[in-house]
Amino acid sequence: MLTSTGLENLRGIHIDECIVTIVQAFTPSDPISRLTGHDWWRGAIGYEVYVRSFADSNGDGIGDLPGITQRLAYLAELGVDVVWITPFFRSPGFDHGYDVADYCDVDPQHGTLADWDRLSIEAKRLGLRLFVDVVPNHTSSAHVWFEAAVNDPAGPYRDYYLWRDPAPDGGPPNNWVSHFGGPAWTLDPGGSGQYYCHLFLPEQPDLNWANPRVMEEFAGILRFWADRGADGFRIDVAHGLCKDPSFADNPQLRPVTPGMHPMQVFTAFEHVHDLHRRETAMMFRQWRTVADEAGSVLVGEMDTRSVDRFAEFVGGGTALHAGFVLQLGTEGWNPARVLDTMVEYQAKADGGCAWEISNHDQARAVSRYGGGEQGLRRSLALSALMLAFDGMFFLYQGEELGLPDAVLTGEVADPMSARNGEGMWSRDVARGPMPWTTGPLHGFTTAGEAWLRTAPLPPALTVEHQLDDGDSTWHQYRALVGLRKQYPLLWQAPFSATRPRPDALIVRRGPLAVVADLGAEPLQVEGLSGATLLHSTGDTATQSGSGVVVAGETTALFHMPE
Ligand code: GLC
Repeated sequence: MLTSTGLENLRGIHIDECIVTIVQAFTPSDPISRLTGHDWWRGAIGYEVYVRSFADSNGDGIGDLPGITQRLAYLAELGVDVVWITPFFRSPGFDHGYDVADYCDVDPQHGTLADWDRLSIEAKRLGLRLFVDVVPNHTSSAHVWFEAAVNDPAGPYRDYYLWRDPAPDGGPPNNWVSHFGGPAWTLDPGGSGQYYCHLFLPEQPDLNWANPRVMEEFAGILRFWADRGADGFRIDVAHGLCKDPSFADNPQLRPVTPGMHPMQVFTAFEHVHDLHRRETAMMFRQWRTVADEAGSVLVGEMDTRSVDRFAEFVGGGTALHAGFVLQLGTEGWNPARVLDTMVEYQAKADGGCAWEISNHDQARAVSRYGGGEQGLRRSLALSALMLAFDGMFFLYQGEELGLPDAVLTGEVADPMSARNGEGMWSRDVARGPMPWTTGPLHGFTTAGEAWLRTAPLPPALTVEHQLDDGDSTWHQYRALVGLRKQYPLLWQAPFSATRPRPDALIVRRGPLAVVADLGAEPLQVEGLSGATLLHSTGDTATQSGSGVVVAGETTALFHMPE
C-alpha cells in the first residue's frame, strides 16, 4: 500500500514529486466472468484446503466436507477459481488420508458421498472448480488390492505392488529409503519371504505402474470423480509412479548418521532409480487421454528438481496440464535463487507450472521468510510476481491471513516425525486448524479439542477480524487474487523479462510491467515514465525525471502509457 510514511521510509531516496495513481477498486469477480474454455486452468488461482483442519461441521474435532461447503462462500469472496481438497477418501489415517483404502468413497470422519455431491453443487453455484487429490504412487495397506496381494500371492493383485526377493544377506533388496525413515522395504506380512516397496510408510505400499491394470484402475477412479463433479486432480507424488525395472541401488551423495531427520536421510541419496523416471512422464500421456475425455485438468506434485524432466512430465500439453514447482515452497528467503528457478521454469515448462510458496508439507511461508511483517512482506511480493508468470497460482489455507507456523501444544501427529524419535521437525506446523473466529478453538470446531492441538492465535490473525479490516492481510490477498481477473493480460500477453539485479526482475506483458524488487534495497527503474501504478505490495513511487522507485521486498504492477 502506498502511504506517505511508507514513502519517507525509502531510505536515501528523495521523492521530489509523487505522481502515483493507484487504480485499486477491485470488485469481486462474479461466477460468470470466471475462466472458461478447455484452457480455463491457465491463469487460474487455486486454493489448497487441508481437509482435516479447514472446518469441522459435526463437532468431532476433524474437518469435513460439509464444513468446506459452509465456507465455500468465503473462498468465492476471496476470488479464487479452484479449490484443491486434500484426500478425504476412506483411509486408516496413518498419513492423514494419503494412505487410501478406497478411492471411490468418503471416509466417515470427513462425511459421505452425498456430502461431496452437495459440496460440488454449491461450488458450481458459486463459480468455483474442485480438484480432488488422487494418490496413485501407493495405496493403504488396508486397501483390498493389497490385502488380496498378500493373501493370494498367485492371484491377480500380487502384481499390483512391487515385490522383490531379499538381498543375499536376507535384508532389503536394495538401498532405497523411505521418505518417512528407514528402508523403503518391508517383509511380506503373508510370510512369502519377499519384501514389498514403500517410498513412504510401511502402511503405504507402492503400486506397480508397470502393470497396465493399475492404469486401468486409475482411469476408472478419475472417471468416477469427474462424473461426480470434479474439475481436475492434484496428483500426489506424481514424480514417483514408475520405478527403474533394474531396482538398482541409488547413488549415495552424503553419509547418513544416526539422529538425522528422515528427509535429510532421503536427500542423502540421488533418486535416479526410484523417482523422476522418464517412464512416468510417458505414463502421464495415458492419464491425459482419460482426462481429456472427462474434461479434467491434471496438476502433478512434482518434486523433480530438474526442469528438463519437469518439462517432459507436462509434455508440451500431451501429458500433465501442469506441475507444482515444489522447491519454491520449501526454501527460505533466497531471492536470487527463486528468480533463477522461476525464469528457468517459465522458459522451459510450456506454461505448465503451478506456482505456490507453501503447502501442507512445509513450514509456512511467513515463517520461512523471516517471520512477522518481514515474512508477510516477502510472501506478498513473491506471490504478486508469480501472478505474472504463465500457469496456475495456488494459495495454501491460512496464507491469505498471513499465518505463521503453528505452535504445537499436544502430541505430534505427523508420522514423519512421530515415528522417528523426539524433537524431529514436523509438518504439523502448517496443519493447524483455520482460525475463523476469536471464540473457543477459533470457531474451527465445537468439540473440546481439535485433532491437532495448537496455541491460540492473536485475534488479528482470525478471519473474523481480517474481513472487517480493509487493510488486513486478507484484503491484500484478495486484491492480489483479483489482479488476474482485472488485468488478464498479466498472464495472457507475451512474456519478457529483464533482471536489473540478481534479486530483482521486471516482467513485461503487453502494456503491463511488473517490477519485483525482492532484495532489501529500493530499486530505481527508468523507462516507466507516465506509467500508472495499478497495484503495489509495498511502497512504490514514481518521480518526475528519475523514473520509478520500488521499495525493497515489494512487487508493483504498472500500466504503460499507450
Ligand atoms: C505427498 C503429500 C504428503 C504425503 C505424501 C505421501 O507428498 O503431499 O502429505 O505425506 O505425498 O502420500
